[in-house]
Amino acid sequence: MAQMHKGRRRFLGFLSTSLFTVIGLCLALPGLAYFGAPMRRKSATGEFRSDFVDAGPLVDLPVGQWQLRTVELAGQDGWEKTILRYAVWIHRESESADAITVLSSICPHLGCPVQWQAARAQFVCPCHHGTFDARGRTLAGPPPRGMDPLPFEIRSGRLWVLWNEFKTGSAERIPVCI
Ligand code: FES
Repeated sequence: MAQMHKGRRRFLGFLSTSLFTVIGLCLALPGLAYFGAPMRRKSATGEFRSDFVDAGPLVDLPVGQWQLRTVELAGQDGWEKTILRYAVWIHRESESADAITVLSSICPHLGCPVQWQAARAQFVCPCHHGTFDARGRTLAGPPPRGMDPLPFEIRSGRLWVLWNEFKTGSAERIPVCI
């Protein structure tokens, strides 16, 4: 008889533990799904995407000079919204709206910011002295390819640049953003 009571107590203990576990899981799952949502969104879409970014009014770009412009790209890291700023080199050859060259300022060797040196009419990278001509083509140093050109569009008098990053250290131009 005592054995039977002991067995029933053990069974009831097991039953109540299982019940509490199931109830606990039911309560916890919506919370886990809620907090997991941003991570899923990040992995599904990628943190930063290639996108058109506003590089400012066309009239502010002087003809015949290289101009450095900062563009902003919005990204999502979990719940946090992030703004990344990148620099692009822009050259307007004439008043014509499509006579424009846009180059990424990121050195294709290891990613340092490339500077325009007007006196030499060359782009120079301060890190390992990579040099590029006035069109962004490699002249000397370790960069395995020329500076990366970026597509653009003119929208309502403003220049919009299709920002992308490219793999550094590679002779091939391989986009990093999706
Ligand atoms: S990072 Fe530009 S030359 Fe090395």
